[in-house]
Amino acid sequence: MQTVLSGIRPTGNLHLGNYFGAVRSFVEMQNNYNSYFFIADWHSLTTHPTPEDIRRSARTILAEYLACGIDPEKATIYIQSDVPEVLELYLYLNMNAYLGELERVTSFKEKVRKQPDNVNAGLLTYPTLMAADILIHKADKVPVGKDQEQNMEMARLFARRFNRIYNVEFFKEPESFHFSEKAVKVPGLDGSGKMGKSEGNAIYLKDDEATIKKKVMKAVTDAGPTEPNQEKPEPIANLFTMLEIVSSRETYDFFNEQYNTCQVRYGDLKKQLAADINTFCAPIRERINEYLSNTELLDRIARQGAEKAREHAAATLREVRQIIGFHA
Ligand code: ADP
Ligand code: TRP
Repeated sequence: MQTVLSGIRPTGNLHLGNYFGAVRSFVEMQNNYNSYFFIADWHSLTTHPTPEDIRRSARTILAEYLACGIDPEKATIYIQSDVPEVLELYLYLNMNAYLGELERVTSFKEKVRKQPDNVNAGLLTYPTLMAADILIHKADKVPVGKDQEQNMEMARLFARRFNRIYNVEFFKEPESFHFSEKAVKVPGLDGSGKMGKSEGNAIYLKDDEATIKKKVMKAVTDAGPTEPNQEKPEPIANLFTMLEIVSSRETYDFFNEQYNTCQVRYGDLKKQLAADINTFCAPIRERINEYLSNTELLDRIARQGAEKAREHAAATLREVRQIIGFHA
């Protein structure tokens, strides 16, 4: 069976965009792959979070993933900093990673431009840590967005280079895996573009009913169609895309028909949309809160995941040490 590995930086709560764009596909994948899901808390150190931030964010994101249906019985779900084996591989990979190529990584150059007073070595070697995450489990497939493509290329480069230097066929080159055919792009409701944390327009899975309603009622609309079957401008098309994602076929068809006959009432549409988003989010929200109030269970899941991940990582590392010439 092929191995799939997915990593996420614990930078905030999951929103509908994350869910329909990525998480839903992970949840399906755990049935067909040997799956690893981990929370990349070491990677988040490049921005110097406080100990409080770190403690809170890893647990929160763990609770949210579990609430979405990632199943610790099927997948190995762990927190990166619970698996120190990764760091030893990171060190070995760093010895064969060159300053020039690391400096050429676009996301590094961007950080240098954006935060010139915090260009730390962790930022420079972000791609080697990511490669270590992937190679320690010899992952075949890594689901990532376009922005991670260069990091994936570096991971493949480091795998090939290790094999060449030691004249072995040890690491396989991990493949980037795109959900694009299956995953949807969830729009924002503020007129244009996608839903995103940094766009400030996200509806979070943990949002309560009143918050969801407030956010949806604020959605940008226009004066309404003036001709039958008129093409929908972006803000309106976005509302309909949301209906398509969370509401029933009948609801979508009803409002679509109303739009096409110039009778649509955006207030009613938004009320229905808010109700349907709430119906979708409510059980997830309930599970998030259950997990968050049960730190013992969360800790147990994290510990069990870490144990499984460490066992597998240690096996890889023993071989790596042997190949390099150290005691296994
Ligand atoms: P954000 O932009 O909100 O910070 P991330 O960039 O951390 O989200 O993305 C995490 C995952 O969620 C990625 O796989 C990304 O492709 C997916 N994702 C984020 N926003 C959307 C969206 N609006 N539609 C579809 N997928 C999304
Ligand atoms: N760099 C990824 C991101 O910013 C997170 C990440 C860290 C990751 N290590 C990984 C993703 C290993 C996949 C595999 O989203």
